[in-house]
Amino acid sequence: VSDQKLEAAVVGASGYAGQELCKLLLGHPSIELKAVHSARPGAAAGDAPVAGAPMQSVLQADSFKGLDAVFLCTPHGVATPHVRAALDAGAHVVDLSADLRLKNQVAWEAAYGQPHPATDLLDAAVYGLVEHNRESIKGSRLVANPGCYPTSVLLPLLPLFEAQQISSTGPIIADAKSGVSGAGKAPTDTTLYHNVVENFRAYGVGTHRHAPEIAEHADCDRIVFVPHLLPCFRGILTTLYLPPAAGATEDSARAALAQAYAGEPLVKVLESGIPALRDVQNSPRCHMGVASANGSLVVVSVIDNLLKGAASQALQNMNLMLGLDEVEGLL
Ligand SMILES: NC(=O)c1ccc[n+]([C@@H]2O[C@H](COP(=O)([O-])OP(=O)(O)OC[C@H]3O[C@@H](n4cnc5c(N)ncnc54)[C@H](OP(=O)(O)O)[C@@H]3O)[C@@H](O)[C@H]2O)c1
Repeated sequence: VSDQKLEAAVVGASGYAGQELCKLLLGHPSIELKAVHSARPGAAAGDAPVAGAPMQSVLQADSFKGLDAVFLCTPHGVATPHVRAALDAGAHVVDLSADLRLKNQVAWEAAYGQPHPATDLLDAAVYGLVEHNRESIKGSRLVANPGCYPTSVLLPLLPLFEAQQISSTGPIIADAKSGVSGAGKAPTDTTLYHNVVENFRAYGVGTHRHAPEIAEHADCDRIVFVPHLLPCFRGILTTLYLPPAAGATEDSARAALAQAYAGEPLVKVLESGIPALRDVQNSPRCHMGVASANGSLVVVSVIDNLLKGAASQALQNMNLMLGLDEVEGLL
């Protein structure tokens, strides 16, 4: 059976997103996890990132030869040489980093404070927000996997724009909260246990790198995005505060979302009530609920940042590119 499987490698497998991806691939009926790598130049072979995965092997020029699928789970700015090598080897590629998520090079360089690493790849890279870009993803060999916060904001926001539920004036507030795994495994002062537990803070106000990604893919310059650090490990809860278009109500907004996501296997629009983090932790799904407060529409979405915000969305994208059922290995 194993001979008939498609073959995949994960680069950056020792990180939080890479480990989740390895776990998903180990249970995938049609894809075999053949190799895992560190992306550090010359990094020695090492432990398996999760039980049952192959031992980490040294990344070499021919490491991607013969593979169908390569996932890059490295920080921004380091993935693109490996993206190129994987594409040259004939593989389909999902880059989980931010390198290829923005078409706007100027906005990317302003947000990331460095020259863009691969403007030549921007045309080929498809933004992998599956529910809104499925057909382009199917025909692609390179997907830029969306950021975790952008996924949690864009999934509830895009259908409401499309259905003209949001006023064309006034701020669109995206008040987002993430568990600490969103920051990756490297410890910082902010993510130390004693600074997180029994604490709660906003950060990156007006400067967070996900703001231009949200603005570009929502095609909207009125979004006020404020992220917060929750005292838990995984999950994002985003509350959108929206000025309604004339005639739009809580019921019409909920109906627009329900219609947009009817038949979607991984997005659930609640008929009533507001979702909580626990509903989606360790799951590849997004749940959303709608309410209204003093004339504003209020929409709450929840995802697991490491899954729908990273690894499971990456696999959903790869399944589509490989012609598989998009939820294979996810449910
Ligand atoms: N965490 C999330 O919720 C989330 C959500 C969406 C997207 N992402 C994106 O996914 C990527 C991985 O995130 P993560 O949270 O898994 O990060 P992480 O836990 O910090 O892991 C990063 C991985 O990249 C490797 N790495 C770190 N610095 C490197 C460098 N300078 N050169 C080469 N390799 C390096 C690490 O290897 P070592 O073991 O050698 O350090 C590790 O395997 C990032 O681009 C992130 O923006 C993360």
